[in-house]
Amino acid sequence: MGLKLKNVLPVFVFLLLASTAKAQTVFDVTSAKYGGKPNSDITQALSKAWTDACASTSPSKLVVPKGTFKFLGTTFKGPCKAPIAFQLQGILQAPADGNQLPKKDTWISFDHIDRLTISGGGTFDGQGAISWKENDCHKNKNCKSIAINLRLNFITNSRIEYITTKDSKNFHVNVLGCTNVAFHHFTVSAPKESINTDGIHIGRSTGISIIDSTIKTGDDCISIGDGTKNLNVTNVTCGPGHGISIGSLGRYQKEEPVSGITIKNCTLTDTQNGVRIKTWPASPSAGTASDIHFEDIIMVNVGNPILIDQEYCPWNQCTLKVPSKVKISNVSFKNIKGTSTTPLAVKLVCSKGLPCEKVELSDIDLKYTGNQGPLTSKCTNVKPTITRVTKPLACATSA
Ligand SMILES: *[C@@H]1O[C@H](CO)[C@@H](O)[C@H](O)[C@H]1NC(C)=O
Ligand SMILES: *[C@@H]1O[C@H](CO)[C@@H](O)[C@H](O)[C@H]1NC(C)=O
Ligand SMILES: *[C@@H]1O[C@H](CO)[C@@H](O)[C@H](O)[C@H]1NC(C)=O
Ligand SMILES: *[C@@H]1O[C@H](CO)[C@@H](O)[C@H](O)[C@H]1NC(C)=O
Repeated sequence: MGLKLKNVLPVFVFLLLASTAKAQTVFDVTSAKYGGKPNSDITQALSKAWTDACASTSPSKLVVPKGTFKFLGTTFKGPCKAPIAFQLQGILQAPADGNQLPKKDTWISFDHIDRLTISGGGTFDGQGAISWKENDCHKNKNCKSIAINLRLNFITNSRIEYITTKDSKNFHVNVLGCTNVAFHHFTVSAPKESINTDGIHIGRSTGISIIDSTIKTGDDCISIGDGTKNLNVTNVTCGPGHGISIGSLGRYQKEEPVSGITIKNCTLTDTQNGVRIKTWPASPSAGTASDIHFEDIIMVNVGNPILIDQEYCPWNQCTLKVPSKVKISNVSFKNIKGTSTTPLAVKLVCSKGLPCEKVELSDIDLKYTGNQGPLTSKCTNVKPTITRVTKPLACATSA
């Protein structure tokens, strides 16, 4: 790059930023018009400010300044008339008692919005501790619904950056029906003991990316549901948590294919699982999971670091006799290194009705840190291509 361009570029970028900043109309929830005050409930104020910001015909910025604000929850509805920025600088705090939320399964939802930015360095605090104690959804299908901190429903061309979600009562973020949404410098924070608090769950969405982010929680850091296409997860650290998971798939009727998933340059620390694909046996209808690539992953004290489990059946909620009808193909695990807390460090158990196809294992180097026998691996109904994998990890037992 020439010297000239180097000098001109920052000026140009500055002007560009200055011009967008100028064009933005600011709606501050603590302004006299809305009257939000720190340490008090701003449910009405924030809802009103959103309505105005969303109706603005020039780009708008909704600001929640520094401080702690109580918020009962709402749906921020689009479509809006122009790009809209939700700038959370402070802490929005949910009621600890889930019964106080207007919608039991949702704290905050953003619906049908194009060109939304959620940023500002602030925190969505779900105050979930009481709910975790009451949660029995992992074993009770008819359990009481519990609020997800943030739902993104049908959001397009949007970014979520420099934002934290903390102690959600249930999943932290649920991404549904979205297209082209990027998470950058996104933080999820909840203790290891928090139940069902998946970091980011994605379903029926295309073109999502999660980059330079940190997820510490009590369940999957990222879970990828049916209908997810073209997803990149890059430079994410996960742990504590249950790892990064495709699925579970094959539990419900008419699930859409999962394809084009790349999980790259991530570190998992003290997680129950590493990278996995899980599908239920006895699926009610057929499904597919293809073009899934895990690459450059560091595992630090991780249980089941590499796992395909097509007999996923927690709490005996299904019958193992009928094989999974989800077809898994074109899956690679490349350059995965570190330590395993379980001796079975590579487990690929595919469906006996639909064996996995085009599975690749290369440059796998995992060490077992415990004393429950030797490091080993197991492959069932799959014949992976194996390159530069030490013997114990290269399908030591297979069927
Ligand atoms: C994911 O990464 C690939 C390769 O860098 C790129 O072509 C694709 O557009 C990316 N997708 C998203 C959603 O960022
Ligand atoms: C990875 O993400 C972290 C933030 O989570 C950031 O500080 C770091 O610079 C990123 N690393 C690279 C190589 O992009
Ligand atoms: C991620 O990428 C950065 C920069 O290329 C590198 O320094 C780091 O070691 C990578 N991390 C993993 C887990 O591969
Ligand atoms: C496997 O997946 C990659 C990445 O999604 C894709 O580019 C490639 O075409 C797929 N290969 C086959 C044989 O389907």
